[in-house]
Amino acid sequence: MSHAAHQRAQVRVPTLLAMKQRGEKIAMLTAYDASMASTLDRAGIDLLLVGDSLGMVILGENSTLSVTLEMILHHCRAVTGAVHRALVVADLPFLSYQIDEREAMRNAGRLIQEGGAAAVKLEGAGRLCRLVRRLTEAGIPVMGHLGLLPQHIHRLGGFRRVSQDVAEAECLLSEARALQDAGAFALVLECIPSELARQISSELTIPTIGIGSGPHCDGQVLVSYDAFGLYPGPRPSFAKQYADLTAILTQAARTFIEDVRSGRFPDQRRSSSTSSAE
Ligand code: KIV
Repeated sequence: MSHAAHQRAQVRVPTLLAMKQRGEKIAMLTAYDASMASTLDRAGIDLLLVGDSLGMVILGENSTLSVTLEMILHHCRAVTGAVHRALVVADLPFLSYQIDEREAMRNAGRLIQEGGAAAVKLEGAGRLCRLVRRLTEAGIPVMGHLGLLPQHIHRLGGFRRVSQDVAEAECLLSEARALQDAGAFALVLECIPSELARQISSELTIPTIGIGSGPHCDGQVLVSYDAFGLYPGPRPSFAKQYADLTAILTQAARTFIEDVRSGRFPDQRRSSSTSSAE
């Protein structure tokens, strides 16, 4: 396949495995609405995550815990309706999969059937591995998430680095193996030591997607509002900022306000047409 055709081909679960085998890095960002999703898709992003981080960056909460399945569904429909190439993963929010397996299966199924997602993501391992196996057997691809688990913020005592000692690192490595054995197609590794991420990435056959876990993962994910400078709250130290859209928007808004107040907008030509196509 030519480079251009490869860039356009729809990303599917096996594509990601093939990318890992070829040593090609996987790029993933979060998206919550159609305009942003369409822009990131056209830019060539491989994976889009309708993350429960929407609770913080869209709704202004200080954690992801208040996000419900209905909220993820609502944003997921907007994203999947706008995307042609990227594979869309939807987060299973807090308490949508921990209570019982039947409910979890139904909720994950809704994200696929009603939300249009191609895969779901859930946090943790242990007893959840059985659920991962059942979902995978039912045709619902599952992305795991280990390390800093934002849905466990109260147990962890804050957003902080995890698996710093040998025992914790061994535990995380065995959880990663268990998720792969249960059928997970990829694994997010959040805020773990770079060397541990390297070890997991080289041992597992499924791709690892790092966030604050160093350069050795098979791919990287960032919350788009952090990456593009759209989130006014504190930005994690690992999150490189690729643009300062808040500054650009502020300047554009000030110009609009001045134009309205001074009468520069609308001008005679614009006020007589009704759409940008005219
Ligand atoms: O919800 C989210 O944005 C996430 C990323 C941090 C991976 O889970």
